[in-house]
Amino acid sequence: MKVLITAGPTREPLDPVRYLTNRSSGKMGYALAAAFADAGHHVLLVSGPTDIDIPPGIDFVPVETASEMHDAVRRHLFRMDAAIFAAAVADYRPATVAGEKIKKSGEELVLKLVRNPDILGEARDKMNFEGILVGFAAETENLEANARDKLKRKRCDLIVANDVSKPGIGFDSDRNELLLVFPEHTAALPEDEKHHLARHLVKEVELLAATRSGAFQAP
Ligand code: PMT
Repeated sequence: MKVLITAGPTREPLDPVRYLTNRSSGKMGYALAAAFADAGHHVLLVSGPTDIDIPPGIDFVPVETASEMHDAVRRHLFRMDAAIFAAAVADYRPATVAGEKIKKSGEELVLKLVRNPDILGEARDKMNFEGILVGFAAETENLEANARDKLKRKRCDLIVANDVSKPGIGFDSDRNELLLVFPEHTAALPEDEKHHLARHLVKEVELLAATRSGAFQAP
């Protein structure tokens, strides 16, 4: 399979020295990229800035902003069999980027933010992607209900939900605990190393692809 994976945070610049970002380290997305490559799949990793070494044997597109990630996904998605969106993409960016460093002045500074493109949300509707579509959901409450809502709205085959309010898992940790939300059922993957969970997700995506192609249908 040809698999596109997004990973890491995005950085939304405010001025030449400051940006808005989030706590994503990229570990979950890079673990997925390595696991798919190890299983013999062709991986294209579109990643925001991280400190992680690029796994061997994969194609890599570095990006900074959500708009750059959006452009990269739009450019490559049409030739993919599966896409997995593990990146923590900023939903908003500063409305203007100052050309010079913003100087201190007054007691308050009000920032105006504007919406970024919803890359996962556009995959089916605007990019006409027909392959296996897997989104992540980073939630702090109502994990399953929120993930199921995303699954339907974004027309995914699977939403991988994680509770990012639990200490020791999720953002910037080597471990995670996942809830796999499929259209017809839900499965829990207990806390484990992200690399082990990634291998499990490879099998789930392979199964979705095989079921889609009819390989697992009764004769
Ligand atoms: O990187 P780590 O430190 O290893 O942490 C892993 C993780 C917590 C970042 C990862 O497991 C995770 O949950 N990734 C998704 C984070 C997220 O932004 O979730 P969300 O619920 O806000 O977004 C839902 C989905 O839409 C995600 O697939 C996201 O990639 C995608 N999205 C979101 C906004 C946007 N503008 N475009 C998108 O494509």
